[in-house]
Amino acid sequence: MRAEFKNEVFVDFKDERNNAEFEAALKKVEAELGKEYPLIIGGEKITTDRKAASINPANKTQTIGIVSQADIPLAEKAIQVAAATFETWKRTDPGERARYLYRAAAILRRRKHEFSALMTLEAGKTRVEADVETAEAIDFLEFYGREMQRLSLPQPLTVSQEEENELYYIPLGVGVVIPPWNFPLAIMAGMTTAALVTGNTVVLKPASTTPVIAAKFMALLEEVGLPAGVVNFLPGPGGQVGDYLVDHPLTRFISFTGSRDVGLRINERAAKTHPGQKWIKRVIAEMGGKDAIVVDNEADLELAADMITTSAFGFSGQKCSACSRAIIHEDVYDSVLEKVVERASKLIMSNPAEAGANLGPVIDEKAYAKILEYIEIGKQEGRLVLGGGTGDSNGYFIEPTIFADVESTARISQEEIFGPVVAFTKAKSFDEALEFANSTDYGLTGAVISRNGAHLEQARREFHVGNLYFNRKCTGALVGTHPFGGFNMSGTDSKAGGRDYLLLFTQAKLVSDRF
Ligand code: NAD
Ligand code: ALA
Repeated sequence: MRAEFKNEVFVDFKDERNNAEFEAALKKVEAELGKEYPLIIGGEKITTDRKAASINPANKTQTIGIVSQADIPLAEKAIQVAAATFETWKRTDPGERARYLYRAAAILRRRKHEFSALMTLEAGKTRVEADVETAEAIDFLEFYGREMQRLSLPQPLTVSQEEENELYYIPLGVGVVIPPWNFPLAIMAGMTTAALVTGNTVVLKPASTTPVIAAKFMALLEEVGLPAGVVNFLPGPGGQVGDYLVDHPLTRFISFTGSRDVGLRINERAAKTHPGQKWIKRVIAEMGGKDAIVVDNEADLELAADMITTSAFGFSGQKCSACSRAIIHEDVYDSVLEKVVERASKLIMSNPAEAGANLGPVIDEKAYAKILEYIEIGKQEGRLVLGGGTGDSNGYFIEPTIFADVESTARISQEEIFGPVVAFTKAKSFDEALEFANSTDYGLTGAVISRNGAHLEQARREFHVGNLYFNRKCTGALVGTHPFGGFNMSGTDSKAGGRDYLLLFTQAKLVSDRF
């Protein structure tokens, strides 16, 4: 029997021995840079003529890998192979399926620095952020393995004297898994393994900017002996290949995490029934955020400043959970603003693979241009009190940026920027602060910093977000501890890392037997 689930402990980078181990792993990863990565369909490695380079966002001249790109015929092949493999995989013992996850977790744990080092290079994560993510990936594997074993036990039903009744959670079929680049290991691995451990087969289309970390995870699945065809690796242009996979009549479900626009597009397309399709496609869509930290007038202001700074600028604000709005009671507004500016101005923006960096670059040219455009908009909508500029032009570096005195209706208060930019808004009362916090289309995370118990109870009732935190940051959900997912335009509230999550990948079958 497996020991009870526990969250993976993070590496302490204050200990120089850990930095030394990390650097050895970094050297190993650097020695492999520029390698070619094929598609994998039914275990067959397929190299295509069309390739895309994955580059280091902190150093645009450094190629992380050259990745073959799928076209429509290969997307078709991947779906057909996944559909054929489903016929055997669906019958595999759930315990066996779970053990593939446990084995992968064990290897990932032993080689965690190697995976983290690759993330510092391909995604621009700092050592700390990359390590937290590798820990989260291990947690997903350990947690979903146990969850599958729990779901495969006899399920509680009202007992009948005349019949024997049993409820089974059976898989759905072929799932198209489309993860984002910003958690290129944890979210990708969590979405993929939730689908496969429940008995489905997968076509995995990795994010275009972080395909190498996904390829490394595929190698890990091969290493643990996962049968060929259970996960098929299909890097390719999101629009073209993505639409084909989503529309396919053999696709049974789509598990997507990414932007609101793409999520809504997938949801619409998946709703259309195509010739030969026998089911209503299921869509799990986790999307963007415009997350707020509310600071009350009765609050620990040092804590408030620490939590805003960490939540806004960790991974350069490129988390769906990042704080992009600080909504502060007018009595403490100037003080909190000053403290956050003081902290943020001390953050070290540099090569994230090196020790001591607090933030690195943003992911690519497109993100860089978009964030700088929003900074220009911010200059019209508020008072620029910190940052606004760029850094080392070898990479896509953007300074931690703070705008003060922004209306809650401003574009920078309403639209997801997905960069190191936070808007400060003054509220006359706690009621008004909550009204502002709830005033976007999104509803992913939020936090309240307050010592007033009645206000915290009010926020518990009224602050409409999937993950609400009191007197702490609004980022950093832990698997099993903080099931994660949002309301409204933040998605379908799937609660990744929670006890309801695997049910989304199954259908329940009741068998009633009279002897
Ligand atoms: P994105 O929507 O641009 O891309 C996500 C994935 O969709 C990528 O793999 C991409 O290649 C693919 N894609 C693009 N067009 C497609 C199409 N037409 N059909 C199918 N797939 C297509 O998002 P991103 O930039 O990778 O990630 C950032 C976004 O993800 C932000 O909005 C962030 O808030 C959100 N996010 C949400 C969560 C959450 O749990 N709610 C977690 C992480 C990121
Ligand atoms: N799970 C990630 C967080 O909570 C997105 O920050």
